Amino acid sequence: MLTSEGFDTWAGDYEESILNSTGYPFDGYYDLLAYVQNIVEINPDTYVLDIGIGTGALTYEIYKKGVQIHGLDFSPKMIELAKAKMPNGEFFLVDFQHGLPSEVGCHKYDYIVSSYAIHHIEDPLKINFIVQMKGNLKDSGVIVIADVSFRTQEDHDQCKIVSGDHWDHDEYYMVADSIVPQLEAQGLEVEYIQKSSCGGILIIK
Ligand SMILES: C[S@@+](CC[C@H](N)C(=O)[O-])C[C@H]1O[C@@H](n2cnc3c(N)ncnc32)[C@H](O)[C@@H]1O
Repeated sequence: MLTSEGFDTWAGDYEESILNSTGYPFDGYYDLLAYVQNIVEINPDTYVLDIGIGTGALTYEIYKKGVQIHGLDFSPKMIELAKAKMPNGEFFLVDFQHGLPSEVGCHKYDYIVSSYAIHHIEDPLKINFIVQMKGNLKDSGVIVIADVSFRTQEDHDQCKIVSGDHWDHDEYYMVADSIVPQLEAQGLEVEYIQKSSCGGILIIK
């Protein structure tokens, strides 16, 4: 599991390393990001919180169109790069293992989005975190999470076998068959879309 220092080290060539990667874990990465970006309604009054914003790969495209971006990350270097691209954004240097920080407590967002970040916490924490996010959404708000994820445990296990030594044993990938019913039990409306061999989108209302 990468620490904030590990992500600081990766930050400088993060985007280039994804550009050159094939297969697990970033298979379909750009399609997943585009899917999330297309869900967001472009409007100067639209507020979006990006969880694990990294260099801003997910939200920079919608920032350029005038949407208000808030970003959360525990890597100072990642935030520095995101801030350089989005000077009018607001950024929070926090570890999301502890949920949303008090600074965002007063905000109600139109969208809370995340890409390739939430797999850093275990499923029970993910569920609590998503329930907490729901409390920071406007009534019409939507949570959209793109990440390494699978529809079934069999698909997860098959990818693990095929990926061999590349498989990261320290990450906690969502399996829709397991996580969707747990979120629904919390009263949330949930949809899961598999977009690539190892990438999917969770949409929560
Ligand atoms: C693989 S990168 C994804 C970045 C970006 N969202 C993207 O799609 O390219 C994961 C990001 O999540 C951040 N991150 C990982 N664990 C975190 C945690 N516990 N709290 C806050 N940020 C975290 C990392 O610093 C990094 O910027």
